Amino acid sequence: MRMIRRNFVATAVAATATLAAGAAFAQAKEVKVGYALAVNSHYGAAANAWSEALDKGTNGAYKFKQFPSSALGGERELIEGLQLGTVEAAIVSTGALSNFVPDVGVVDIPFLFRDTQHARAVMDGAFGQELLAKFSKRGLVALAWGEQGFRHLTNNKHAVHTVADLKGLKIRVTENPVHITAFRTLGASPTPMSWPEVIGALQQGTIDGQENPISVLTSAKLWQVQKHLTLTAHVYAPMALLVSPAFWGTLNASQKAAFTEGAKKGAIASRAFVDAVEKKGVEEAKANGMQVVEKVDQAPFRAALEPAYKEYAKKFGQKTLDTITATR
Ligand code: PAF
Repeated sequence: MRMIRRNFVATAVAATATLAAGAAFAQAKEVKVGYALAVNSHYGAAANAWSEALDKGTNGAYKFKQFPSSALGGERELIEGLQLGTVEAAIVSTGALSNFVPDVGVVDIPFLFRDTQHARAVMDGAFGQELLAKFSKRGLVALAWGEQGFRHLTNNKHAVHTVADLKGLKIRVTENPVHITAFRTLGASPTPMSWPEVIGALQQGTIDGQENPISVLTSAKLWQVQKHLTLTAHVYAPMALLVSPAFWGTLNASQKAAFTEGAKKGAIASRAFVDAVEKKGVEEAKANGMQVVEKVDQAPFRAALEPAYKEYAKKFGQKTLDTITATR
């Protein structure tokens, strides 16, 4: 009799636990998060860490459904989706962002950041945090700055060592006025294009090259469509972890805190991914047949960009540029 009662109690406890888990699962709200690259990229690393932290921080009340590899469209469409409220969350580069939040364009200025440490200090410091706050006036909620690394140049025509080697090269750039000005000033022929079109355009030869960090080069296996890599490190590329204002408005304070903390964890994960991939990515590119120009004298590139720097100073204010440069 006692045995039967014990079995009954055990079964009841198990059933209650299953029901509770089922209820929690049923209540979990799905959050669509989109990004441009595959899951095994710095974007995927950020999304996974964000998702995990969110799961813990909200006791499973919110679950990310990931849409990697531009499944929800290019970055411009993703950002528009956030503004419209059709996408809840996204992780994007600054490529298309300055068309929505013009002040962001300042971080896209070539050779503005001395190195990764400088870039991270700026993005994590007062300047970067104030920049995040500016998104709200533009119909976006920005929670953290992650990272892609420094952008380098790839192409199919010839090895690029000098500014002169860029002459006439058709380089795909992001839909970003600062990048377009830079490549035009350097004598290349910049072709703004959304990322989902880039691999096809490189295959068909409608463009000669593109520029992106090692993290993108390896995750997109750009050696399949590009012969030459030059480590120009011409622009630092942050990534922004964003949420739709419509969705944000549905969250209470502690849920908002969980999303924000999760985004910060995502940002840290993207930087750790970039640190690791930067160490081995160039070797991987060589092993896959890319010709790599490793040493580039940046001084002539900066000198050639002088007219562009004048334009940038007018656009963003010399004071802003000096604040960034002075950050240690
Ligand atoms: O070059 C771009 O558009 C971006 O760096 C990419 C590859 C979409 C990653 O955000």
